[in-house]
Amino acid sequence: MILLGTRLVRPGLHMGPALPSDVSVIASLLALAAGDCLPVGEGEILRRLGEFEVARAPSGTVVGCAAVRGERERAELRCLAVHPGWRGAGVGRLLVERAMQRAFAAGEALFCVSRKPTWFESLGFSRLPASEVPDRPGAVPAGRHALIRRREHARLKKAI
Ligand SMILES: CC(C)(COP(=O)(O)OP(=O)(O)OC[C@H]1O[C@@H](n2cnc3c(N)ncnc32)[C@H](O)[C@@H]1OP(=O)(O)O)[C@@H](O)C(=O)NCCC(=O)NCCS
Repeated sequence: MILLGTRLVRPGLHMGPALPSDVSVIASLLALAAGDCLPVGEGEILRRLGEFEVARAPSGTVVGCAAVRGERERAELRCLAVHPGWRGAGVGRLLVERAMQRAFAAGEALFCVSRKPTWFESLGFSRLPASEVPDRPGAVPAGRHALIRRREHARLKKAI
């Protein structure tokens, strides 16, 4: 590992779009994160493959994944999971940063629902007031929090 800024980042980590051959590994990563991520079947992952990006170790093994489901005003970050053996090495942060780039290329905000609000706050997300949460049944299950990162926030941080 190398020290980059204040984060340990393993060298050779490659971020990029998911391939059809990654589907079963993505399903396994999501199963390993059960409780934090909803399980998603291989069929649905394949149908929604264009929403996924993966992090690959130097060996080519997929060690993390994240999906961005696009809506122009507010994209949603889903299916964020890092293999337990790779957690704490900055992979999750890189996946979220890539998801923000994808969301902000076309829209204004990236929304997510998570059990880990403080981790998302450390990445610039804010808790979303209940009045702004999408009005659909089960949108924010008990024990989870709605969070949002707005593009304006990213612009302001750059300007400071
Ligand atoms: C959440 C998850 C994606 C983070 O991935 P990761 O690669 O371990 O994340 P990073 O290495 O970029 O960040 C880890 C840092 O966040 C901190 N952290 C972890 N959980 C945290 C929490 N609940 N609150 C605050 N900080 C937290 C760690 O202490 C670590 O800090 P450090 O780098 O100063 O030591 C990973 O733990 C995971 O796959 N969890 C299961 C699935 C899940 O929870 N997905 C999110 C649902 S939306």
